[in-house]
Amino acid sequence: MSFKDNSPSYRDLILGINKKVPLISGKMVTAINFDNAATTPPFKSVMEDIIDFAPWYSSIHRGEGYKSQLTTKVYDDSRNIVSNFVNSDSRNTVIYVKNCTEALNKLSNLLYDPYKKNVILTTDMEHHSNDLPFRDKFIVEYISVDKDGKLSLDDLESKLNRYNNYVILVAITGASNVTGYKNPIYDIAKLVHKFNSKLLIDGAQLVPHAPFIMNSKNSEYNIDFLVFSAHKMYAPFGTGVLIGPKNILDNCEPDLVGGGTVDIVTHNFIKWNDSPQRHEAGSPNVIGSIALASAIRTLSKIGMDNVERVEKKLTTYAINKIKDIPNVKIYCDTSRCVDRVSIIPFNICGMHHALVAKILSYECGISVRSGCFCAQPYLVKLLGISNDFLIKRIKNPDLYHPGMVRISFGLYNTYAEIDILAYALEQISLRRDYYIIKYENMKKTLFDF
Ligand code: ALA
Repeated sequence: MSFKDNSPSYRDLILGINKKVPLISGKMVTAINFDNAATTPPFKSVMEDIIDFAPWYSSIHRGEGYKSQLTTKVYDDSRNIVSNFVNSDSRNTVIYVKNCTEALNKLSNLLYDPYKKNVILTTDMEHHSNDLPFRDKFIVEYISVDKDGKLSLDDLESKLNRYNNYVILVAITGASNVTGYKNPIYDIAKLVHKFNSKLLIDGAQLVPHAPFIMNSKNSEYNIDFLVFSAHKMYAPFGTGVLIGPKNILDNCEPDLVGGGTVDIVTHNFIKWNDSPQRHEAGSPNVIGSIALASAIRTLSKIGMDNVERVEKKLTTYAINKIKDIPNVKIYCDTSRCVDRVSIIPFNICGMHHALVAKILSYECGISVRSGCFCAQPYLVKLLGISNDFLIKRIKNPDLYHPGMVRISFGLYNTYAEIDILAYALEQISLRRDYYIIKYENMKKTLFDF
């Protein structure tokens, strides 16, 4: 298999790429998906591998039947595929979960010690999933961002200094799901290790879009814990991953217990299994792990450096296309020197973000996400409004809900699709009043036309 930039072959990998969707006019158009940061469509190869495997699907880790042995082997082997993909080594273990949110909740439970006042440093730019799970169990401090929303390494160092031996984990996103900024995770790792702490990278928006190295020759730069989700990398079926040091995870009490987690049980004695089994209670999601391994095989054939290059070109093209459209305000540093993944947040001044998203869908068949992207503290900073504004909405839910519109690319998107978006945004921007009146009281969904 060989691939060229934006050649049809990338699109050929994706299921449903030519599906037509209805517009408000009744016309049908080929759907354009610019919401890949939320969820990508599946690879055809993933669906084919699932169909091929399904006749062999059977009980796992328990049966002596041939199908059981095969199911167990396929599931266990998939951990090596995952581990190799992110250049993790044998000191780590791969634990399957549902998604990043579950992975982060699990890690927060595993590291929790009710007898210690441990500190977790996270940041102002996190998805809520890399913040909320820690709040009730640790002292949580937030590393600040600058006016453009970029992480302050000086503030990280100063907080590491201030809390010194109490910081058991620094939890940082690899790439922001709002601005697309990539954080300098290896510089951060070096700094965190200098203070004898551990680094967790939320890889939800990074692992699907760029090569990832958990363990390198120089252990100063190691990423200690990594989480990511299969549904953002062309593999639906509900699998996520938590990877971390076996020697730590083997010494944590499991947070979910039951079948599979134990070696020996009497009525008054338990010996837990080692990880990963210790932390995977109940029958696991075999199909999800096969889907993820399959997606990884396809991504690896393409090459993650190629994925990154193709998506960077799409992003630069899109930024140049939309940045000068009248009334469009982009909420991130768009200069070429910024290391980023394929995400662009913006608003059309004078229009509600949700309305812009609705018009793009109803008039053009373009899918984007709007709102706060599960990162309200970051959004508020980027928009330059106060937290009080959010709090006031508790008493007055009709108050304007702050937010943005977000476009995010996958490797199969094209320049032609971006041209359609840019034209649409220009029309919306030039005819704001017309669209506001047209959609003002519209309650109908696209199923109603
Ligand atoms: N966390 C995903 C997003 O940013 C769902 O859209």
